[in-house]
Amino acid sequence: MSVQPSECLSDFAPRLLGWYDRAARVLPWRVPPGSGAVPDPYRVWLAEIMLQQTTVAAVAGYFSRFVGRWPTVEALAGAEDADVMAAWAGLGYYARARNLLACARVVTADHGGRFPDSEAALRALPGIGDYTAAAVAAIAFGRPAVVVDANIERVMARHRLIATPLPAAKKEIRRALAPLVPQERPGDFAQAMMDLGATICSPRAPACARCPLSADCRAKGRADVEALPVKPPKKAKPRRYGLAHWIEKDGQLWLVRRPERGMLGGMRALPGGPWDDAPPGESGVAVVDHSFTHFDLTLTLVRREPQHSAAEGEWWPLSALDDAGLPTLYRKLTDRMRKEKA
Ligand code: ADE
Repeated sequence: MSVQPSECLSDFAPRLLGWYDRAARVLPWRVPPGSGAVPDPYRVWLAEIMLQQTTVAAVAGYFSRFVGRWPTVEALAGAEDADVMAAWAGLGYYARARNLLACARVVTADHGGRFPDSEAALRALPGIGDYTAAAVAAIAFGRPAVVVDANIERVMARHRLIATPLPAAKKEIRRALAPLVPQERPGDFAQAMMDLGATICSPRAPACARCPLSADCRAKGRADVEALPVKPPKKAKPRRYGLAHWIEKDGQLWLVRRPERGMLGGMRALPGGPWDDAPPGESGVAVVDHSFTHFDLTLTLVRREPQHSAAEGEWWPLSALDDAGLPTLYRKLTDRMRKEKA
């Protein structure tokens, strides 16, 4: 007798967890399955904030530097804003870093340095949305929360053959996943789903032959498996333009800090004008393109004499530019200038 797909779902979690016990990725914020170790909520939270919109590979070094320098939530709460922003430089989405600090300070001041252990109380903290609250509740506190990130979306959209385009599909995906979350090991279950999506149920060429969930996967063998989940049509991004000023004196570079509100808020930067819809009528020593979520930016780097440095700022030694905590946009420009000079 052939096994009907729906009959298999009762052992969805055991199959997945059995695979995770053998194949879990070793990650610096993670407690290996079966080790008996208790995860540190501070490390779990920090990793989840860093991993939003950013890959595991990009986060690993940042995570190690952060926990080395600020090993507890109280230590992070006591850090200087500028130090945390500089340590975050290169990870992008800088509002995350500001919220990270705000959250550490609330946990320290209002919760005695202990993260609350329920999804609802976690969601009330700065920078913690539905996804992060669920992930921290499950991974750090063993709560059977329904955790859905992009990897898990892909696994579920394929396994249950949910062809509704995102973001409308999110509701169906959540409804399909909720009854599968086990009371035992919900944190490992969430991380196993993430690992499966990252390593086996990959966007291109999924390795279905090695998948522990293939027996009842409705997308398996379909020519269009890679098309799931169905993405919404891409919107064309507008392009903006701006100038960045290279103001150098005696081996030092004039740097400013971006306003707290707005793009790259609170980050160190090269000075320059506003970003407009029209290209500047000036050619420079270098031009770089950078992609933000809602627009693309072309910045032209022009040399200026020191008297242009009217705005508030600081002289930074060119030999120590790597320590300035410049976001990637400005790093691209300083790297180009370094090459020009070499
Ligand atoms: N992506 C987001 N959170 C993750 C986690 N805890 N483990 C692996 N990948 C992740």
